[in-house]
Amino acid sequence: KLLDIGVIGLGVMGKNLALNIADNHYRVAAFDLDNDKVNALLAQERQERLTGQPQRITGCHNLSEMLSNLTRPRILVLSVPAGEPVDGVCQSLIDAGIEADDIVIDTGNSLWTDTVAREAHYAGQFIFFSCAVSGGEMGARFGPSLMPSGDINAWEHIKPIWQAIAAKVDATTGLPIERQEPGNPVTEGEPCTTYIGPAGAGHYVKMVHNGIEYADMQLICEAYQLLSDTCGMSAIEVSAVFSRWNQGSLNSYLMEISAEVLAQVDPLTDKPLVEMILDKAGQKGTGLWTAVSSLQIGTPAPTIAEAVYARAMSTQKTQRQQLSQCLAGPSKAALIGSERTTFIEQLENALYCAKIACYAQGFQLMAMMATERGWQLDFAEIAKIWRAGCIIRAKFLQSISEAYQVAQTQGVELSNLLMAESFSTALSTKQLDWRSAVAQAVLSGVPVPCVGSALAYYDSYRCDTLPANLLQGQRDFFGAHSFERVDTPVGEKYHLNWSHKPRTLVKL
Ligand code: 6PG
Repeated sequence: KLLDIGVIGLGVMGKNLALNIADNHYRVAAFDLDNDKVNALLAQERQERLTGQPQRITGCHNLSEMLSNLTRPRILVLSVPAGEPVDGVCQSLIDAGIEADDIVIDTGNSLWTDTVAREAHYAGQFIFFSCAVSGGEMGARFGPSLMPSGDINAWEHIKPIWQAIAAKVDATTGLPIERQEPGNPVTEGEPCTTYIGPAGAGHYVKMVHNGIEYADMQLICEAYQLLSDTCGMSAIEVSAVFSRWNQGSLNSYLMEISAEVLAQVDPLTDKPLVEMILDKAGQKGTGLWTAVSSLQIGTPAPTIAEAVYARAMSTQKTQRQQLSQCLAGPSKAALIGSERTTFIEQLENALYCAKIACYAQGFQLMAMMATERGWQLDFAEIAKIWRAGCIIRAKFLQSISEAYQVAQTQGVELSNLLMAESFSTALSTKQLDWRSAVAQAVLSGVPVPCVGSALAYYDSYRCDTLPANLLQGQRDFFGAHSFERVDTPVGEKYHLNWSHKPRTLVKL
């Protein structure tokens, strides 16, 4: 009997996706260049299979065998590293006899422009479709958030499988339905997948998801440093604060795991593990791509960019060690008593406000790119499919989705999340705490690039007038770059002859 779907690349993500698909009663053909990985997958399926359940995964020795095992049009899921490996497998599929209506789905963290180019490049040979996947290995195994984009007919074809394997949200509470049992997938609830748009849209949205992920992680890390440095808290004490915050508006997967990481004891030294982990952060590029995209398109995403810089700064360990010996800072006095209690409360509110600003940046960036590319992105839906499965999953995403739904109902465009009443009200009530927390950080000499830049973002939007008038004056002075006036029609350009006396105004 022919199989339903092929999975190519059985690293941790591919293997778990294959098991997830099989759990949902689809028959899977699996292939990896490394035959040991095929065998490992088959062994895991055997081991996890519940009594009475049939084997649903078949190992393949090569791509021709896979193609001949699949129903048509064939659906092939690529789980290989982004970049050249994707094209390498595509070429091998062409060599193996893939056909024009077969569907190849790239699930890696590919650069969105590569996806656009690939769809065009492979047209006529097969349908190049993409589906960005979030949720790490456990997500892939028991329900990720899936961001498919490309040929709409291909989407209709794969939709039932995608809806089955995606994470699910309880429609009433808006919270994830967590069940991680092999052979017993979650079948109830709203699936965390929706068609995002034409080729590239899904990978762009996933890229911004990761940019937000970088910023959200860094915000939490800044709170950790602040609580350690200004309150003298131990890792386990910070963990307790984070666990408490996780019960309120800051509830999120990232907050939850941060509390867990901080509570972990190092098996070798019995010290908190976090104190034994070297403070040099890695990155694979998606946060950087988000920051670059925001710079290229001219939409401010400073908190995301600062999160990328914070990782870069963390890698400057040697220089930091040298400079920490010679650069002056304020003297350290830990906050105590009611001052400390107040500061912790302020910091919780500061983090919430910064989080709103950071998500506002990500969503605004997606909106700008959508306009530029002619994509019809449904932000209420995008926020919905991020409520479970993905790394930034949080109660908060429900509020974002509702904000976009309210705007849709009212027929208004929500060009920035800061405008949504639910968020602007929260920001108004909490902004003083946000300022106090940033002020305390500055006075204590603790770097808060993300909490601080988010506040500057908020304050910039509050300013009806920014000092860019002076900036335009400077540009016109040294480079005759011209300026517009506040009292003449938009687009009308002027230049002052700065080097002549008397200085005369010229309309260009
Ligand atoms: C996800 C994650 C995933 C991956 C990041 C990590 O949504 O599941 O974002 O894609 O963990 O790429 O990125 P860095 O290695 O750059 O931190």
